[in-house]
Amino acid sequence: MKTTASYLRIIGFMVLAFFLLEFTVESGDTWAIVKYPVIWAVLGLVFVFAIAIEVISETLKSILFRGLNEEAQAKFLAAEEQRKENNWFKNTYKKLLAKKPLEKEEEIVLDHNYDGIRELDNTLPPWWVYMFYATIIFAVVYMVRYHIFDGIDQDQEYEIAVAEARAEIEEYKKTAKDLIDVNTVEILTGKQDIAAGKTVFEANCIACHKVDGGGGIGPNLTDDYWILGGGIKNVFNTVSEGGRDGKGMVAWKTDLKPSEMAQVSSYVLSLHGTTPADPKEPEGDLWIDPNAPVEEVEVKIIDSTKIQMKIEDQPVTGDVVKE
Ligand code: HEC
Repeated sequence: MKTTASYLRIIGFMVLAFFLLEFTVESGDTWAIVKYPVIWAVLGLVFVFAIAIEVISETLKSILFRGLNEEAQAKFLAAEEQRKENNWFKNTYKKLLAKKPLEKEEEIVLDHNYDGIRELDNTLPPWWVYMFYATIIFAVVYMVRYHIFDGIDQDQEYEIAVAEARAEIEEYKKTAKDLIDVNTVEILTGKQDIAAGKTVFEANCIACHKVDGGGGIGPNLTDDYWILGGGIKNVFNTVSEGGRDGKGMVAWKTDLKPSEMAQVSSYVLSLHGTTPADPKEPEGDLWIDPNAPVEEVEVKIIDSTKIQMKIEDQPVTGDVVKE
């Protein structure tokens, strides 16, 4: 018993010394013991000292003990015994088990007897009973929190986590605008982005497309007709990769950042429907955005039948007026 206590004290002492050194010796991100191997030597010294102290104190004790007269020795032993009795951990452990000692089992044996097999009427061990009470308290708290006051359940927790993650992604996108490529580009409508696009346009594009997008060497950018396809993805692709070979529209991806190409493409699309001073004739094909929401157009046919028809998402031609 005494030696176990000594071992424990030495181990505790070493652990203490180790952490003290780690906390006091500045070593950045690595362990001090890795950065400065001399610490091993220090710990070794501490170890030797710890053992020495244990040995000396034990020796001193036994010398003193032998020097005592019998009465005092008995007193000392009794005190030691008392100290053991008062060990808090041991006593608590025993209390939690509440086991009847073997000698007292007769007190709790029940009076039935099956071929020599008898039953003891043990009380429930307190550790078990306390745990049982704890579950009852837990159940009450749980019920009040989640069923009476409607605390958040897993679904809601999940929703909150997803919303937080979305916000983080948005935040990240703001700082990483140049991650855009033709697959992820989206039309920008913010005033700042359009203004930035305008600046890029005026610096690089007006020589061929005119300042109002009406077209010159390059085609008119304000009409519904596109040679290389309309919509943000096609326009971004044209700006990034250039037009058909030999036509004069170069690839801008080496000169402009992805964010700038997205801005200038959005600016180009914002010119749609404006009337330039000297517009070039439409070139290419009529562009109908495949992703546009289906619009319901109600038309009234002006003739004697006076039938009202609904035409869904079709170019309207002929003698009709929109209502
Ligand atoms: C050197 C003249 C020139 C410059 C500068 C120029 N373009 Fe072009 N652009 C053209 C020509 C020519 C075409 C037609 C390409 C083709 O027919 O393949 C074109 C086509 C385009 C188209 C596709 C039009 C369609 O109908 O499909 C877009 C969009 C466009 N340019 C945007 C820009 C932007 C934005 C800039 C500035 C960053 C720019 N261009 C600079 C000459 C130019």
